Amino acid sequence: MAKVEKCSCGDDEAVLLERLVEIISSFKTKPGALIPVLQATQSLFGYIPQEAILKISEILNEPLHKVYGVITFYSFFSLKPRGKYLIRVCLGTACYVQGANEIVTALKQQLNIEIGETTPDKLFTLDVGRCFGACGLAPIIMVNDDVHQFVKPSGVKKILGAYKKNKEVNQEEET
Ligand code: FES
Repeated sequence: MAKVEKCSCGDDEAVLLERLVEIISSFKTKPGALIPVLQATQSLFGYIPQEAILKISEILNEPLHKVYGVITFYSFFSLKPRGKYLIRVCLGTACYVQGANEIVTALKQQLNIEIGETTPDKLFTLDVGRCFGACGLAPIIMVNDDVHQFVKPSGVKKILGAYKKNKEVNQEEET
């Protein structure tokens, strides 16, 4: 798996795109290059921009529909910029029965966004998924890799607050 840390040095997308071209070129002769290149792209930009898709298709000589097909098949990949924290609410049967829909409603109200959208401060993206394999802990939500179990709509504010606080702490560290 390609490991490329997302750049936090303020590079604009043109610079990142140049870097991506180097990465794609280094994979060019390797079989099965498409997925590692997409992983590298996602890590570099935080999502997969249109320009990157065109470069990947051109350099790896893969048809555009195939590149899009892979991107849309794997939930890890995103065609839109995501927030620092990706919140995914499980809407599988066990979670749904335990009130996952009310959690989605609470999150939408708290964040003032719809499913698939990102908050203007780029902190949170809201998404839903199907059975995360922890039905005994239903209802659950995941925030990046953190699992929150037995979540209640009334507990959503507290969960979000912990991540917002984390941002404030990081900002204080940076100043
Ligand atoms: S249904 Fe939510 S974890 Fe299985």
